[in-house]
Amino acid sequence: MLILGIETSCDETAAAVVEDGRRILSNVISSQVELHAQYGGIVPELASRAHIENIMPVIDEALVKSGKRLNELDAVAVTAGPGLIGALLVGVSAAKALAYTAGLPLVGVNHIEGHLSAIFLERDDVEMPFVLLVVSGGHTHIYLVRGCCDYEKLGQTRDDAAGEAYDKVAKLMGLGYPGGPVIDRLASAGDPKKVKFPRSRLEPGSLDFSFSGLKTAVLNHVRAYKGVPIPEADVADICASFQAAVVEVLVEKTVQAAVATGARDIVIAGGVAANRALRDGLTAAAGKAGKRALIPSPILCTDNAAMIAAAGYRLFMAGKVSGLDLNPQANLPMERMHS
Ligand code: KG4
Ligand code: ZN
Repeated sequence: MLILGIETSCDETAAAVVEDGRRILSNVISSQVELHAQYGGIVPELASRAHIENIMPVIDEALVKSGKRLNELDAVAVTAGPGLIGALLVGVSAAKALAYTAGLPLVGVNHIEGHLSAIFLERDDVEMPFVLLVVSGGHTHIYLVRGCCDYEKLGQTRDDAAGEAYDKVAKLMGLGYPGGPVIDRLASAGDPKKVKFPRSRLEPGSLDFSFSGLKTAVLNHVRAYKGVPIPEADVADICASFQAAVVEVLVEKTVQAAVATGARDIVIAGGVAANRALRDGLTAAAGKAGKRALIPSPILCTDNAAMIAAAGYRLFMAGKVSGLDLNPQANLPMERMHS
């Protein structure tokens, strides 16, 4: 079973061919990071235009690298939301055109469902139900995943997403965009205990998150330098201390969710799952609690189309095929995607 996956929800134009939901034959990602970096964040209109320019060359490259022709495919899977509406439209329109001309079934995929499916590209021993922590630029959610399309939300951020907090903190420190990878790198040279940033745990037992207080605490800390350039060593300490505050709460609540639900496996997904401290912290804490942390390779954590093809495969096998009237939705909730 050969699935072409297409992803254009944010600032990556991506296409991939995946066999049987598992074997990656090609995984092409065209990043717009440089385009948006000069503005300090994603400019939606520029993202849409870049997707329009890139989408067909990226799909062609994915097909060529896979060694397969369009008429050898079994289905086209595409991200239908959540994401930037203009960006989503480009991928969905391309997927519809290909599905129509090649007579292939079309499978609309929720972007978060895509992120969670990354783990299935690398492992076939994930035990259901499992606890899923989705941490990306737009999401910080904990789900209990019982099977394909069966998701129960256990908690979510009440303000900023974890990735958003990384990006905003990097911006206020003048570290550029996107903030996650930069802070991850700089933090490795810093002392995570140097600055005592707050940990927001909310009500006892709550699996929700809040990062806006932490962001404000970093802002206040940085303001104390009164515009004088922050010494390199201090930058590293601030990054490490901020990261420790984010990771500590993410890890604590995710493991708490696994204990409360009795799930053995914990999967993390989304761009922030590429973070070294989170990967190491969760692996250690899960082990201590008798749980197993399953984490995709970093390249499959950030936006890509192989994960969309992997999700598309599972949906296709479950009979969840979309019509050619599929429309993208900027705020597509995971729970309602296939009901
Ligand atoms: O999943 P993703 O590629 O796109 C969305 O669906 O949002 O996630 C992007 C987010 C950005 O906020 C970026 O700063 C963050 O993931 N990110 C990281 C790392 N790599 C990417 N955050 C922390 N550490 C990283 N190594
Ligand atoms: Zn994403």
